[in-house]
Amino acid sequence: MTMIETTMTETGPNASGYKDFSIGGFTFSRDEYFATITWPTGSHQMDIGQWLRCVQRDVAWGFFYGIVNFDAVIGTMNHYGNVDMFAGRFNEAYRRAEVDYNENFDHDELMSCFTAMLSDWTNEGYDPFAAPMETGSAYGPSRGENDMAVTRKRVVAQRMVGVPGDEPIRSDESGFPINRGFADVPQDEPVISAEPGYEDQVCSFNLFAYLSRSDVTWNPSVVSACKESLYCPTTEEFILPVIHGNDRVEWFVQLSDEIQWDVEDRDTGAKRARVVMRAGDVAAMPADIRHQGYAPKRSMLLVWENGSPRIPEMIANGEAPVHPVDF
Ligand code: PHB
Ligand code: FE
Repeated sequence: MTMIETTMTETGPNASGYKDFSIGGFTFSRDEYFATITWPTGSHQMDIGQWLRCVQRDVAWGFFYGIVNFDAVIGTMNHYGNVDMFAGRFNEAYRRAEVDYNENFDHDELMSCFTAMLSDWTNEGYDPFAAPMETGSAYGPSRGENDMAVTRKRVVAQRMVGVPGDEPIRSDESGFPINRGFADVPQDEPVISAEPGYEDQVCSFNLFAYLSRSDVTWNPSVVSACKESLYCPTTEEFILPVIHGNDRVEWFVQLSDEIQWDVEDRDTGAKRARVVMRAGDVAAMPADIRHQGYAPKRSMLLVWENGSPRIPEMIANGEAPVHPVDF
């Protein structure tokens, strides 16, 4: 794959007050309802709220693991340092018609384009990370901004949550109130009875109480790391905006309520499974699928991931499995 020299350009504002953006062969424009994307062999439209929710996650996650499909046509594929933006690449019909398109960008360059677009296209009162019931409207002519929300950083614990020096978002004083969907979650902290002499070495915390204060949806945050093993719990409501194409196995532990998952073949989009997960259910999502989740009510999900950058290569070499369990 060759890297094309590109620079992002911005023009406008257009009649709705929004700037147009372009990078490489892609152009992006928004009007009151839609994002319109063009590339040399085609064009595509998406609901602007849906577009902003996808771009927000792609930016916040640094293009994430593997593939982030914004829908069945548009998305990005992370090569960890550089990144592909594509149209129709993982869509059998687009490929057959030979209108699919892929372009490779330097990580920082595509990131700058997305960050500028997110800032310009997000209106005052709309938060792409929030559940639809907890935020304003994405639609209409350009109206102020919400940079506070769109530049929000994922909460990364400085140490394991609960040990001295962690990032304390576990009280009302933290500015993170208990979410309306978790009003029934007990807030008591565990009682520790350490052997004398070990009092400062044993820590614990109430993960449910901690997550009940999360103000974002579909945004896994690292709460503990043991070498490459990352515990990334998250709170979910409505629809995971992106259809994530895995490049490694990931484990899901449904901590509360219910999420339904549509699981498809990563490359063609052919349906593979529908997974209904209720509190206590555990699933291993294979490395060769793409999936999108639906949460009718705010729920808690633990995503358990191996963050090693070697995993895609190990899978390609047959050193690591595509699915972790054989039944
Ligand atoms: C996933 O793609 O595995 C994923 C992404 C975001 C979430 C949950 C799961 O909030
Ligand atoms: Fe995933």
